[in-house]
Amino acid sequence: MRKKIVAGNWKMHKNATQTAELLNELKAQVSTKNNAQVIVAPTFVNLALATSLLEGTSIQVSAQNMHQAASGAYTGEITADMLKSVGVNTVILGHSERRAIFHETDALIASKVDAALQNDMTVIFCFGEELKDRQSKNHFNIVENQLKDGLFHLQAKDWEKIVLAYEPVWAIGTGETASPEQAQEMHEFIRETVRKAYGSDIAEDVSILYGGSVKPDNAKEIFSKPDVDGGLIGGAALNSKDFLAIVNAI
Ligand code: PGA
Repeated sequence: MRKKIVAGNWKMHKNATQTAELLNELKAQVSTKNNAQVIVAPTFVNLALATSLLEGTSIQVSAQNMHQAASGAYTGEITADMLKSVGVNTVILGHSERRAIFHETDALIASKVDAALQNDMTVIFCFGEELKDRQSKNHFNIVENQLKDGLFHLQAKDWEKIVLAYEPVWAIGTGETASPEQAQEMHEFIRETVRKAYGSDIAEDVSILYGGSVKPDNAKEIFSKPDVDGGLIGGAALNSKDFLAIVNAI
């Protein structure tokens, strides 16, 4: 069954005190009655705090990244098993900031996806074109290739653990949003691409989130599109009022 999901990517924001503060505000107001699964992705150092604070609630905790190896001499890195050991069962992979700033390639991201799945984790797989790709009308190609190179080596059964997050790079943190029509057009294309490779059941079941400057005042219109199953929220996930308004827009 396709799920509605609203996930907050906190990026490199909020220390432990601020993390607890925001989580307590969300905890008080997110209920199982919400139409969407709510996910928060604080920084690595605050994940254990988050899972313990949110125990017994419907809010899930995600990491923002992880390493593909099971262990080893990789100073500063974190494994899937370490995440699981503090109660984190979801990870965001392939975020455009990881791709652009930390030079993560499709092949590297594919190996991280494999490591996450081997550990029975859910993957929020991010992908999306840059402005120059859209301007040169190459955006469908780029998105198709990111999908194929990152995920199409998977077996059909693996797709139960995959959530897609289409995030046009030109709309991330810029205040510029894809129009609801642009989002729908791309989400429909993405679902069709999955359908061609894996068939209708998987294509209909996979949740496709939109990310890129989703705010309380545009969320409802974007979420009303038939192939948009929720959002990956950056800036507006950093305060409870905006984030909850977006959750309630589903
Ligand atoms: P934004 O970030 O909502 O601040 O544009 C979205 C994201 O990077 O996931």
